[in-house]
Amino acid sequence: MRSVIPDYLTEALGDVVSDTSGEPAGYIPELAAADPERLGAAFATVQGEVYGAGDIDTEFTIQSISKPFAYALALADRGFDPVLAKVGVEPSGEAFNQISLEGDTGRPLNPMINAGAITTHTLVGSDDLKPAERVERVIDGLSAFAGRPLRTDEAVCVSEMEHAHRNLAIAHMLRGHDILTEDPRTVVDGYTRQCSVRVTARDLAMMAATLANRGVNPLSGERVVPEPVVRQVLSVMFTCGMYDAAGDWATQVGIPAKSGVAGGLIGALPGQIGIATFSPRLDRHGNSVRGVSLFERFSSDMGLHLM
Ligand code: DON
Repeated sequence: MRSVIPDYLTEALGDVVSDTSGEPAGYIPELAAADPERLGAAFATVQGEVYGAGDIDTEFTIQSISKPFAYALALADRGFDPVLAKVGVEPSGEAFNQISLEGDTGRPLNPMINAGAITTHTLVGSDDLKPAERVERVIDGLSAFAGRPLRTDEAVCVSEMEHAHRNLAIAHMLRGHDILTEDPRTVVDGYTRQCSVRVTARDLAMMAATLANRGVNPLSGERVVPEPVVRQVLSVMFTCGMYDAAGDWATQVGIPAKSGVAGGLIGALPGQIGIATFSPRLDRHGNSVRGVSLFERFSSDMGLHLM
């Protein structure tokens, strides 16, 4: 039987296409050059079915959507306590690129903001990994979540590194507090590579579905991370995934989510589906304008709000 979901998604995209507010991320020149009209949405069920409409096979960089997955890998590789000792789980209420460190310890408030994600990147794998091997472990892990081999976008990576002054400043602060114990530039380079992994909305929906499916990729059947890790990750996505818009999101959409500055947005509904949207124009929080509208609509039409 033909599913009604693609028609529903096509209609939803049609309703947001006239909204041309917001701008693609300007602080990474390669992203500023993205086609702002790209628009797509995909659903992936925990049974492994994928439904989509619009640009769901266009590749773009994952950016901050890598953060919950790298956090999952770090928790799986090291266990909870060593990770919590370095990165907290409290919402910052601030923008993604604020310093947001605890006053006395210098511990970043959560793994979704850049300070926490830069630190989390160093916690993937074990201490004996060289920086390049750690990046490989991150990319392999993201690929396992997606169920296909992913690769980085060198042009976006180089472009971001040339302008990474804020992230370098954050990394130096973290090094000053001994939260980071390595060369800050090497760490930011690895983190930036993590952010430059190319994905499609279809991939992101499947990655979100792997979280919704409690750590098992619905298509490959691979257990990527243990179930308690997924609970931790989804909880932090719920409270911190949308930065200083997390409260609006929690009340209006009500599902764990994460945005990226290339225009991707994911949501995971435990036991049910992973959802992804792609539209590069961003609001002042760095979240996709049309993506947020689409999620508000999906949540209200299908009663996805968890409360
Ligand atoms: O570190 C950065 O600024 C980027 N690589 C990622 C930021 C991001 O995606 C924020 N999310 N909306």
